[in-house]
Amino acid sequence: QNAIYNAGLNGILPDFPVDFATLRERAQSALSPSLLNYVQGGCGDEHTQDRNAQAFRNWGMVPRMLVDCSERDLSIELFGLRLPSPIFMAPIGLNGEMTQDRRGDIAAAQAAAETGVPFCASTLSNSPLEQVRAAAGETPSFFQLYTPKNRDLAQSLISRAEQSGYRALVITLDTWLTGWRPRDLNTASFPQLRGKVLENYFSDPVFWSLLDAPPEDDLMGAVRMWTSVFGQVLTWEDIAWFREATSMPIVLKGICHGDDARKASDLGVDAIYCSNHGGRQANGGIAAIDMLPDVVAGAGSTPVLFDSGIRSGTDVVKAIALGATAVGIGRPYTYGLAIGGARGAAHVLSSILAEADLLMAVNGYPDLDAVRAAGAHYRADIA
Ligand code: FNR
Repeated sequence: QNAIYNAGLNGILPDFPVDFATLRERAQSALSPSLLNYVQGGCGDEHTQDRNAQAFRNWGMVPRMLVDCSERDLSIELFGLRLPSPIFMAPIGLNGEMTQDRRGDIAAAQAAAETGVPFCASTLSNSPLEQVRAAAGETPSFFQLYTPKNRDLAQSLISRAEQSGYRALVITLDTWLTGWRPRDLNTASFPQLRGKVLENYFSDPVFWSLLDAPPEDDLMGAVRMWTSVFGQVLTWEDIAWFREATSMPIVLKGICHGDDARKASDLGVDAIYCSNHGGRQANGGIAAIDMLPDVVAGAGSTPVLFDSGIRSGTDVVKAIALGATAVGIGRPYTYGLAIGGARGAAHVLSSILAEADLLMAVNGYPDLDAVRAAGAHYRADIA
């Protein structure tokens, strides 16, 4: 534990940054302007996106003394799995583009294999989901679904995920259409990405059967094809269909209101995922971390996953203290991929965990139950 920091003190400095600001700076020179806009961009003037990260500053932890914290246990139980740490990689579409060889999803899965941190593969992976799953080795993976309009295609993607060994189905609720993202139009970022993309879709036999003509071999062609099948508005009544469609645990991503969490819990979903999509879908919102306590209260005994604004190990500990069972890392690992492929992503995850572990040690929290019992305290004046 804390090999990174201790080695650094002994003069063996890490190859990659250990803080988000430097990581982001390094990624800026590693990514093309269009990709940078794609990853960094959010909705409107990006106020919600900025608040997601800033709001963590209003929450503080209080240390406890004279507790034996010489060993820390960061493991959790989720979906019947014992996981070594409480973090996972959130689903990121077009992750493949983050590495030069365009196999960024595979690299992220390799980082999962190396660190034991689960990777949640996006429907919009560049690589087919079976290959992504295989690259994660022994580490469990989750599959995120953007639900297509065509139920046969939805079933095909879900069945492929189940057959290739994914351990949970994460259904994203907040993105049946794309939010108002000025950067997409200001920089025309998408058309500048060319070549083979969205291989996950294009590897699906049902997807092919729905096309009138073969897709053009560029991103805009792919996006046109994809938008012709994508964009299903879901309602509460649809959840029963997913139960029939899979025996994987079901997670609803994008739940931010306590009443929605209560409804989801009453429907018997396996986890509720509190997230505002990193501020990419709706501007004018409240920081995701500020909504977490209500979601946790509504969820009752259903586990709550959380993402949006996690930038450090201390953010992870705060989200756990506010009731999350597991915490999704988004942009930080993507920057790790951009600057160092699988090694870069693994480094980012390990740094976040090492910082969380060290915080628990100095704060007197031997395990995550102690973190939850300690809670996080809100102070309006400390941001
Ligand atoms: C995302 N996110 C996302 N979510 C999802 O369910 N499916 C997807 O394909 C994507 N794609 C995607 C691309 C990019 C570039 C980003 C930054 C985000 C949302 C993601 O899972 C997560 O909710 C956010 O990344 C959390 O915000 P932060 O912490 O990264 O700011």
